[in-house]
Amino acid sequence: MKKIAVFTSGGDAPGMNACIRSVVRGAIYNGLEIMGIKRGYKGMINGDFVELNSQSVSNIIQRGGTILKSARSDEFRTRTGRKKAFENLQKHGIEGIVAIGGNGTFTGAEIFYQEYGIPTIGAPGTIDNDLYGTDYTIGFDTAVNTALDAADKIRDTADSHDRVFFIEVMGRDSGYIAIQTGIGCGAELVMIPENPDSIEGVIDILQKNKKKSKSSSIVIVAEGEEVGDAHYVSVKAKEKLPQFDIRVTTLGHIQRGGAPTAIDRILSSRLGLAAVEALINGRKNEMVGVVNDKIIHTSFKEAINNKKPLNTDLIKMVNILSI
Ligand code: F6P
Repeated sequence: MKKIAVFTSGGDAPGMNACIRSVVRGAIYNGLEIMGIKRGYKGMINGDFVELNSQSVSNIIQRGGTILKSARSDEFRTRTGRKKAFENLQKHGIEGIVAIGGNGTFTGAEIFYQEYGIPTIGAPGTIDNDLYGTDYTIGFDTAVNTALDAADKIRDTADSHDRVFFIEVMGRDSGYIAIQTGIGCGAELVMIPENPDSIEGVIDILQKNKKKSKSSSIVIVAEGEEVGDAHYVSVKAKEKLPQFDIRVTTLGHIQRGGAPTAIDRILSSRLGLAAVEALINGRKNEMVGVVNDKIIHTSFKEAINNKKPLNTDLIKMVNILSI
């Protein structure tokens, strides 16, 4: 293998730049040429390729976002799109790919390999921490810290006004960001898709808190919560508790930006280098991950199809610690 390419795809995540830097420098260290593909599969189809060298990735380890930009591509779901992408890779002599992204990215890479045989190694880049085969994904720790910072600020104002706040956090179908933010900010309740919830349960907890003379309550709602989003839950709670002063904050894309934490910079650096080494060692169609502090390889099929387990005992802990 002489030449490889790297791209970022799907929702951006803090630490993607640190991972790109690691892939680029790891490749050069191992005598490989390296190109960047801009805007993920979209750029692969449109021929948006750039030469990368050691200096191209100077000063980016601390930056959020992705210097290679990111996108979600509908065209790559079509045979015609994938054919164009293959032709562009051939034109540039690319023999292996490092894909930094999530589920959708790896699904595309798996299909692409079956059709065109170009090996891809994935590095899990998503704030959602929803990928099986790694304890944490790139960007998750930063997103939790951002959400936590916001929740702490909300607690100040909630406390001053004796209010209940419903705070919605991202995570798609996963409750990881919600549970960690909830524990970290001392939330009174966390609602996640992995655990059954009900409006009655919410009302019960809020009433009990009032009786205990708690001056404020924070309910963290995962965006994938099955009962409904934070706005819906707050409206339903207000119907039953009209005397309560209730507000809602949806944190949104603030969770995707900002400088990566130390944990994310280190994780990204480890995963980037491991991805390059995996390609050199002839591995393909696998995601690199860190489990119990060790690099492990998980086939794309397993990473995509297996649900990452979430320890629901943590929910119980939130309830115990917020008495
Ligand atoms: O997958 C990352 C993520 O931020 C999810 O948490 C969220 O559901 C989604 O992406 C938002 O996507 P978009 O940026 O396209 O609105």
